[in-house]
Amino acid sequence: MSLYAEQILKIDTENAFKIGPCIAEVEKQGRPVIKCNLGEPDFDLFDYIRTAIKAQIDQGNTHYCDPQGVINLRQAVAKQMQTMRGLDVSADHVVIFPGGKPPIWMTQQAYLNPGDEVIYPSPAFPIYESVIPVCGGVPVPLHLKEEQGFSFTGEELAGLITPKTKMIFLNFPSNPTGGVATETQLQSIAAVIRDKCDENVRVFSDEIYEYIVFDDKKHLSIASLPEMQQRTIVVSGTSKTFSWTGGRMGWAVFPTVEEARFFKNLNINLFSCVPPYNQEAAAVALSAPQREAAVAKMVQTFQQRRDVVVAGLNAIDGIHCVNPSGAFYVFPNISGVCERIGAIEAFAKLPAEIQAKSSPSTLFQLFVLFKHQLAAMDRNSFGRIGSAGQHYLRLSIATDLDSLKEGLNRLATAAEDRQGFAAFMQEGRHFC
Ligand SMILES: Cc1ncc(COP(=O)(O)O)c(C=O)c1O
Repeated sequence: MSLYAEQILKIDTENAFKIGPCIAEVEKQGRPVIKCNLGEPDFDLFDYIRTAIKAQIDQGNTHYCDPQGVINLRQAVAKQMQTMRGLDVSADHVVIFPGGKPPIWMTQQAYLNPGDEVIYPSPAFPIYESVIPVCGGVPVPLHLKEEQGFSFTGEELAGLITPKTKMIFLNFPSNPTGGVATETQLQSIAAVIRDKCDENVRVFSDEIYEYIVFDDKKHLSIASLPEMQQRTIVVSGTSKTFSWTGGRMGWAVFPTVEEARFFKNLNINLFSCVPPYNQEAAAVALSAPQREAAVAKMVQTFQQRRDVVVAGLNAIDGIHCVNPSGAFYVFPNISGVCERIGAIEAFAKLPAEIQAKSSPSTLFQLFVLFKHQLAAMDRNSFGRIGSAGQHYLRLSIATDLDSLKEGLNRLATAAEDRQGFAAFMQEGRHFC
């Protein structure tokens, strides 16, 4: 008898968390690591939100609450959806979750029948691909191209839609690429969905980085386009916008009130409710007049760091990096480095069972961590299917500028260290 259910063993993971013990191993040797692995803003929680949480706890708001979410937060989300995206929604369309991540699994559980196809971008947040087979779905990756700023057109999407397509995941601004779709791209994507998809196909628009856009660009949602609100679940939360990852506060706005009620019942079955003191503070976070300046300051800091890091990466021989328009990641192409230091050659010589868990960019990622004390993520960490031959790293810029500059120095040194790489391969660390 097997211990675990067959279905759950199909699950993958988010390596940005999994790499933690490897970082700890290096630091235990007294060699501090520059951590560009985690997707979490490095700022303190904004003061006005901290004050609101404390006030809620002092008022004793620490009991169970409405499983759909407290009315103040649902109203604040609905209002933000109206003003920022022009959506015709009320608090009844909104459901609160413990973070932006849980709806990824819960929606697939709710909408997929066995064999239904799920289209999702690749590279992308790894949880999309991880959960699809667990929910009985068939993963259909839409490979993003560097030459198109890591976005895609309606035409490319059209080629993947079949009568079995049930969900389509979108994520702009994107993790890991920082890609942001233009209005024209979104319009062409929406036109294809309207034209080729049944009305019960759901678009999951992950807009968790909605406020983190650079160069005075504005966030655009596919739900704002004609006839798209009725097919789209818009998901966001407080983790990135308010540097509040530990608050575990996310929301989804559903196309119909009936679907929102359905998810309320899933919440009842799963976790009953999300902490009410955090929810009330999240309502303040979204609605208070302090929001605009606090978020703008953070975004400006990210933009300054992006400018330094992208220029630094492009100065390294064998690396080229697209300028991201949003989020707080850079996603450099490291093909030239993998070639030069021998990672592609070394990978080709590995046994098939090790190759299945690794890649040339994984080998370089581990080398950079263990020998040059810089933690970054490899390409495989953002969707494995069809990623062979793509050589990228993701660096999070949610670290102070001095550390980022030192990280660039370490990367530049590692990129030339062919001998060091050969010695590292002898040690046999091929995955984390
Ligand atoms: C694209 C994307 N969606 C969802 C999440 C999950 O956010 P949360 O921490 O609110 O669960 C993340 C976090 O990294 C993300 O990058």
